[in-house]
Amino acid sequence: MNTFSPPHPAHENPELKTEGLFAKARNPFWLAPMAGITDVCFRQLMDEMSAGVLISELVSAKGLFYNSEKTQKMMRIHADSKSIVGIQLFGESAEDIVRASEFVESTGADFIDINLGCPVKKVVKKGCGAALLRDPAYLEKFLSTVKKGIRLPLTVKMRTGWNEEELTVHECVKAAYNSGCEWVAIHGRTRAQGYDGKANWDLMAEVKEEAKIPIIGNGDIRSAEQAKKRLKESKVDAVMIGRGALRNPGIFNECIGLSNDSSCLKIIHRYRNSLNEHYDTRFSLILLRKFSAWLAFGNKGAAKFRKSMFECVTTAEVMERVEEFFQNEQPLRFDDNEEFMMGGHG
Ligand SMILES: Cc1cc2nc3c(=O)[nH]c(=O)nc-3n(C[C@H](O)[C@H](O)[C@H](O)COP(=O)(O)O)c2cc1C
Repeated sequence: MNTFSPPHPAHENPELKTEGLFAKARNPFWLAPMAGITDVCFRQLMDEMSAGVLISELVSAKGLFYNSEKTQKMMRIHADSKSIVGIQLFGESAEDIVRASEFVESTGADFIDINLGCPVKKVVKKGCGAALLRDPAYLEKFLSTVKKGIRLPLTVKMRTGWNEEELTVHECVKAAYNSGCEWVAIHGRTRAQGYDGKANWDLMAEVKEEAKIPIIGNGDIRSAEQAKKRLKESKVDAVMIGRGALRNPGIFNECIGLSNDSSCLKIIHRYRNSLNEHYDTRFSLILLRKFSAWLAFGNKGAAKFRKSMFECVTTAEVMERVEEFFQNEQPLRFDDNEEFMMGGHG
């Protein structure tokens, strides 16, 4: 059990809820949802490495009605999770999300998170993801209908607005509060920005000052030191870390002051075991190759290693090359200006 106390716990602010979902977070350093990455195996790994809250990748509410096996696999939740786990949904209508919530409940999830940040054309064209930020009044109706229709607690993850001219984050946070959401996570970029430029932490701090609901800050945190600094300076209630956890899966342990003695080799072995528990051989191979290539990114010879991963046809072959590549690894950290995974669904 971690005894870490955040520098700015929500309960220090009398206007914030001291009970409810936020109070169940293990610590204020949370794993951000990432499509193709935060599946059951990666979440299990991050649970073992002290991430305060875990969220699945975005799942289409409609996709669930078709009972797609792949979608259901994405939503699976590992047994005995120490951290609370949410399933992130996106959908064209509040009714779709309410209907999908039955499936979410059956996974044992602790909450439902709505994606209001996805910038991808295919998603916003249907009025989902970041498109919902364009009309805060409609957003409030949308979230209120969802809230009334579901039994699980509701949270949202948004961007700061559609673009610099439509910076609707203040109004959208109010809409989330009025409709009974438990917290708002903010990726501090507009939809138009994609992954360019830097996340606007000044704006997130400003939102936090006004908000009557816990605010979770997100964007560009690449080390434990930065995570703690952002938390302290912006006074947000928690921070979410996405890409930084791919480069350094031990980041959450570091954030709460535990030693990060997990080498890439150890982590890949642990991940491989989890894959074997949850997926068939073919799917395990695909994910193992991808995961190993990410961890190699930035190391000398990574491009060659990555290429070699996709030539492997068995997990044994992958592990052989992994052992060879990582045997003399040195801890690698992000360079602040390095571009790493400049695209995603939120
Ligand atoms: C590959 C990738 C996939 C992503 N998928 C999702 C997603 O499914 N849902 C979501 O809300 N955000 C998604 N995001 C956005 C992240 O949650 C996060 O907001 C963003 O990466 C900024 O945080 P970071 O700098 O810590 O990575 C994704 C990001 C990446 C890089």
